[in-house]
Amino acid sequence: MTDLKPARILAIETSCDETACAVIENGRELLASTVASQMEIHARFGGVFPEVASRQHVLAITPVIQQTLAAAHLSLGDVDAIAVTRGPGLAGSLVVGVNAAKGLALGLGLPLVGVNHLEGHLYSAWVYNAGDTPPDEPQFPLMALLVSGGHTELNLMIGHLEYQRLGATQDDAAGEAFDKVARLIDLGYPGGPAIQRAAERGDPHRFNFPRAKLDSPWDFSFSGLKTAVMREVRGLEKKSNTLPVPDLAASFQAAVVDALYEKTMDAAREYRAKEILVVGGVSANQALRQAFLNQTEFRVHIPPIALCTDNAAMIAAAGYYRFAHGQTSSLDMDVQATWPLS
Ligand code: KG4
Ligand code: ZN
Repeated sequence: MTDLKPARILAIETSCDETACAVIENGRELLASTVASQMEIHARFGGVFPEVASRQHVLAITPVIQQTLAAAHLSLGDVDAIAVTRGPGLAGSLVVGVNAAKGLALGLGLPLVGVNHLEGHLYSAWVYNAGDTPPDEPQFPLMALLVSGGHTELNLMIGHLEYQRLGATQDDAAGEAFDKVARLIDLGYPGGPAIQRAAERGDPHRFNFPRAKLDSPWDFSFSGLKTAVMREVRGLEKKSNTLPVPDLAASFQAAVVDALYEKTMDAAREYRAKEILVVGGVSANQALRQAFLNQTEFRVHIPPIALCTDNAAMIAAAGYYRFAHGQTSSLDMDVQATWPLS
């Protein structure tokens, strides 16, 4: 792989509603990963309830760390550094992970590495399970489409830890659009997987929803699409008691996938990228994965589903590259609820 120094990193991720821990060897080989989801609790509220999320993290964090070490057949003494998501995310949730990481680093006398959650998503493309044949490493320059519940961005990755942010959403993130439209057509929370399931039985051509045209070539916008779906739903409700939910879901999904796919391909050509990364929760979407996997112009790296949605393996991978490049954090590090990738 690289000529970077070998190291084993334990990472913690608590930016939203998953309490996660993982141990990774040399930034790629995943020894163990645990994700304790609070999804069922938040589903009752129709979205993440921040104070409930922080308190659940407090309950889950220690058992999640213990389970991860046990699964890796390791003890804390076998770890070289502690990485943790510093932001962006819910401040009250981040605090729980950051303080747990500080406690470990202080108690064990180990370096602490603060990791940007978005950088973590990018590095999910480097991870493979211990025992598997290592997949080829992504080759720079990479065009990275990052699509999650909070962010939708196009970043050119020039080298390790070197990014050029080309564009982002001007309003809703792609995942947020999935969640809002799912609520609108009564599919519940989280919306992404529910829309995907409904769309499997639907006609993507039934409704011609808009693909936003923007002045800035690499930005995204999904609020117009969301409004168009809402208008269609209101109109249909006047005519009938039952909504064509599968057709609405399939047509909406097709509009999102088109926008994400076309722009990423254009950007990859324009910036002469060698390969493409598609990462973040929405990269779990089968229609989006198929769009990229069906083309042959670029080699595309899309992580397995478990690494698309929030997890600590990706934080451990990014943490390794930060650590190996000497970029550790001080023990009085604060959380950074907003922290653009730089
Ligand atoms: O990356 P992630 O787990 O958390 C954030 O960092 O935000 O992304 C969560 C988002 C949610 O909006 C969820 O609806 C969406 O990813 N998502 C999906 C799918 N699975 C998760 N969207 C579309 N299709 C999916 N299969
Ligand atoms: Zn995320």
